[in-house]
Parts: sequence; structure tokens; C-alpha cells
Amino acid sequence: MIEQIQKIEEEITAFKFNIASDVEKFRIHFLGSKGLVKGLYALLREVPNQEKKMFGQKINDLRTAAENKLNGAHITSVKKEDHKVKEDITKPVGESSLGSHHPLSIIKREIVDIFNKIGFSISEGPEIEDDWHNFSALNFPPEHPARDMQDTFFIQKGEEEIALRTHTSSVQVRVMENNRPPIRTISPGRVYRNEAISARAHCFFHQVEGLYIDEDVSFADLKQTLLYFAKEMFGDKSEIRLRPSYFPFTEPSAEVDVSCTICNSKGCNVCKYTGWLEILGCGMVDPNVLNASGIDSKKYSGFAFGMGIERIAQLKYKVNDLRIYSENDIRFLNQFKSEG
Ligand code: DAH
Repeated sequence: MIEQIQKIEEEITAFKFNIASDVEKFRIHFLGSKGLVKGLYALLREVPNQEKKMFGQKINDLRTAAENKLNGAHITSVKKEDHKVKEDITKPVGESSLGSHHPLSIIKREIVDIFNKIGFSISEGPEIEDDWHNFSALNFPPEHPARDMQDTFFIQKGEEEIALRTHTSSVQVRVMENNRPPIRTISPGRVYRNEAISARAHCFFHQVEGLYIDEDVSFADLKQTLLYFAKEMFGDKSEIRLRPSYFPFTEPSAEVDVSCTICNSKGCNVCKYTGWLEILGCGMVDPNVLNASGIDSKKYSGFAFGMGIERIAQLKYKVNDLRIYSENDIRFLNQFKSEG
């Protein structure tokens, strides 16, 4: 019995794992239900009673040694095989799948291109803003509800309270502070609002702001610029309509609708059977805003407009749930492979 145990022990020590299948071979040979170690347990029955304990212990030790070797071997042998695959320099290279632009990037670029063509430059500003650029310089009275904690994310920086910008109109102020007219610029960027996330609202989204300041800029210039934009973006047959509205930073102000591209203004559930879709807000820059930014409102006038990129993307791609834009769902994103 003792020789048999020793012989198997030597065999275990001498065993070499060369390929992955050796691991399973080892297990069956030594530890399988008909393996050598199991066989020793069977022999234990014939051993005299007073020696049973001693032999039993030895067989247990042998089994543990075999198990330890098996566990260790598993790792090294698999590693070896991996290594071999890596070294196969003749293996043909697999096709790598191409990514796609995000739909919001595609739309942003389209908007930027449309305005570039008529001489608008691009300007950007910080997403972390102060009260002056986001509200005060834009003629928001101190008690205006948009300053409310419920709409704006505030950050306490020492004594100072700073905010995540709630709109890209803040960039208007920065551009006017740092440039002299004529100014013709658009500012794309991300904005933040303290909203509960749902299909129709999100705590962050994207806007493009437009600003044109010069001598004798009129409401007619604004209307013509927006009509040009609508035709470029939604097709030559598109029409726009302006509805009077209110924004603190423009006077007069308007909201702009484009004729429904989905039903050709015949009426459908997207345009709620009105034939029109709301796309942006706009107006003539309030003289208070010009003066606050150091531009002489007696000499210069201008117009501004702001639109949501998600809104335009929704109309172009018929995506009604805002949340999907930031969920990184590859099935959604893959659909934009051929665009942009
Ligand atoms: N800032 C506005 C918003 O976030 C959008 C806007 C409206 C921008 C009218 C403008 C404007 O420049 O003239 O809702």
C-alpha cells in the first residue's frame, strides 16, 4: 500500500501540462471517479484496522496535493495557450467596426454649418457661470422666477454662489463684453436645469444661441435669417411663423414655429393638428443688455435667438424621448452610422 501511494505521488509530481487538454486528462487520471486516488480509498478496506487512520491520512494528503496541482496548472496552461494565439502573426486581421457620430453632434454641426455660410462665427463660454452672465446682464430682475433654486443648479464657492448655466444666452454677454460690433456669432453648448428627468425634460440638454449686432439691424433681418435657417434645415418648402412672446433679454420677443415637416402642414399628432412646430425663441436685444455689456444702444441694435438641439433632432429623427440621447444605447446610436 505504501509503495502504491509513493508511486502515485511521484507520478503526480512528474506530470507536465503542455496543452489545455492535459488539465482534464490529469483530473480524470488522478481525481476522477475511476481515478488512481479513488482506487486507493477502495484498497483502504483491506488494510488492518489499526493502520486505517494512518493510511487514510496519507491518501487524503495525496488527494490534496493532486487538487493543488490541478488548480495551479489550470491557470498556467491556459496562459500558455493564450500566448500562442497572440503570437500567430499570420492570422488575418478581423474587421473593426466603425463608430458613429452622436445624433446631437450631427445636428449641432448642421446648425453651425448653416450659419457659417452666412458669416456667423462660433463662440463658446463656460458651463459654470456667475449670476452676472447667466442672469443680471441679461436683464433678469432679482426676483425673476428663473433664478429660483428649483430651476438652477447652484454651487457654493467660498462666499460666492456660482451656477451651472441655464442657457447659452450667457455667451452673448461674454461675446459683447469682449468684442466690438459688428458681431455675428453662434454659440452651441450644454446647459443645465434642475428638472426631474422624464421623456420631455432633462437636467442637461443642448442649445445654440445666435447673436447679430450692428448699426441698423432690424426685426426684418431677424425674420429673414430664421426663414433661411428653416429652409436649410427642414427643406426648401418650409415656412415660419412668429408669435409674440416674452424674454427678459429681448424686446420685442417672439417664439418661432416651422411648418410641420411630418405632415406637410396638413395636421398630425406631432404638430397636434396645428400644422406648426415650435423650434426657437428670439427677439431684438434689449437696450439694457447692450448697455450692460458695454455696447452703445443708441448707436447699435441687434437680434438674438436660441434653440434646443434636442428639439431639432426630435423633429428630424422623430425621437420623442429625451432620455435616450444620454443612455449610450448602442442600438440607438448605430442607426446614425451613415450620417454626419
Ligand atoms: N435663453 C432662452 C431659453 O433658454 C432661449 C432664447 C430665447 C434665447 C430668446 C434668445 C432669445 O437669444 O432671443 O429658453
